[in-house]
Amino acid sequence: MVDVNPATYNIDPAAVRDAISERTKAIIPVHLFGQGSAMDDIIRIAMENDLFVIEDVAQSLGAHFSMDGKKVKLGTIGHIGCTSFFPTKNLGCYGDGGACFTNDDDIAEKIRMIVNHGARKKYFNERVGLNSRLDTLQAAVLNAKLGHLDDFIDRRRWAAAIYFEALKDVPFLCLPAQERGADHTFNQFTVRVSGGLRDKLKKFLNENGIPSMIYYPLPLHRQPVFAPYCRHGISLPVAEMICGEVLSLPMHTELTEDELLYITQKIKQFS
Ligand SMILES: Cc1ncc(COP(=O)(O)O)c(C=O)c1O
Repeated sequence: MVDVNPATYNIDPAAVRDAISERTKAIIPVHLFGQGSAMDDIIRIAMENDLFVIEDVAQSLGAHFSMDGKKVKLGTIGHIGCTSFFPTKNLGCYGDGGACFTNDDDIAEKIRMIVNHGARKKYFNERVGLNSRLDTLQAAVLNAKLGHLDDFIDRRRWAAAIYFEALKDVPFLCLPAQERGADHTFNQFTVRVSGGLRDKLKKFLNENGIPSMIYYPLPLHRQPVFAPYCRHGISLPVAEMICGEVLSLPMHTELTEDELLYITQKIKQFS
């Protein structure tokens, strides 16, 4: 686990470089909230150290990163891209689903086996796997929605532009920053609330019928499940600080102008 950039909430490439040891096998950038991590730096570090790159594009499907002046889709830059089709994602199905992307035939075959209980051939299991097949009904929903992905993203960007304009002068808010080279799909519109006011603002919004979420209350290195894998007493001060300040405002494709006006007016009334 390494620390993140306080402005973009994405993995900090300098921290990645410092954390590499002889046990390191792969770098896993999570393209958080809708925009890409600094993929040019990450790919350079991976090549210099002979590491795999596995992109988590669950919140940023459809976004790009500029590599050598060319816009490339996130999830297709590293060796493997992973996404989620949970209903809240940029491309959501009607339940649970996900996919991995790779251009490497050997990796593709391994992933297909893992998805099918470790079997290449039915009822002949060569490795430990999972039942992780994409349900046919979910696939049908995704087939119908895939062609609309860019429209869904445009709608999120439209809502984000209204938030940016309406909230730009609110003194206790730090609005999301643009990662260099990345475009933002605003799967989430996550602000930082300073002065220890985050929980009070969340309560105030809730009292006014406005849902908001804390993504995420506990950083990964503090999760019990990861304790055995983290360097003892590890401290990631930026991640810890951000977890105490972040608040994700309502964001989806069906938000109306009136709803956005109401939400932003209420935030401005809060003090
Ligand atoms: C960045 C990120 N990675 C991974 C996941 C896991 O997705 P799933 O629950 O579909 O496996 C999520 C889901 O919320 C996510 O936001």
